[in-house]
Amino acid sequence: MIVAVAAQLIGLAYVFATTDTAAMQPITSVPYNMNMFAVHALFGGMSLGAGVVLLALWRPKSTTFPQKSKKIALATTVLWILTFVIGLVLGLTLHSGFFI
Ligand code: HEM
Repeated sequence: MIVAVAAQLIGLAYVFATTDTAAMQPITSVPYNMNMFAVHALFGGMSLGAGVVLLALWRPKSTTFPQKSKKIALATTVLWILTFVIGLVLGLTLHSGFFI
């Protein structure tokens, strides 16, 4: 789990560091794309945040962790899947004209 959350945070930081402002123009100039991006980034940010909270709560020998973390784990998973699907739709919209 540490590896998965760390890989996502490093991936996001890498994408932020290597994307120049001009590359965002196709998103920011089209309201539909901008809305989709905003929801994607919001849900993605919340999913990553929930993943970090899960890790922060985890203790190696804790017996109560599974029950205490259940709702956060569910929220992380649901938000992650929604983010992924919206990301795919956003990507297809931007690069293939599949949706508009
Ligand atoms: C759990 C976190 C996240 C997941 C699983 C995720 C997943 C994805 C996926 C699958 C795509 C489609 C990739 C493609 O078209 O090649 C995508 C696109 C994108 N994501 Fe995320 N994402 C996450 C978080 C974020 C966050 C927090 C941001 C920005 C604040 C972001 C910004 C973008 C942008 C700008 C695109 C469009 C890139 C393009 O195709 O040109 N994502 N994401």
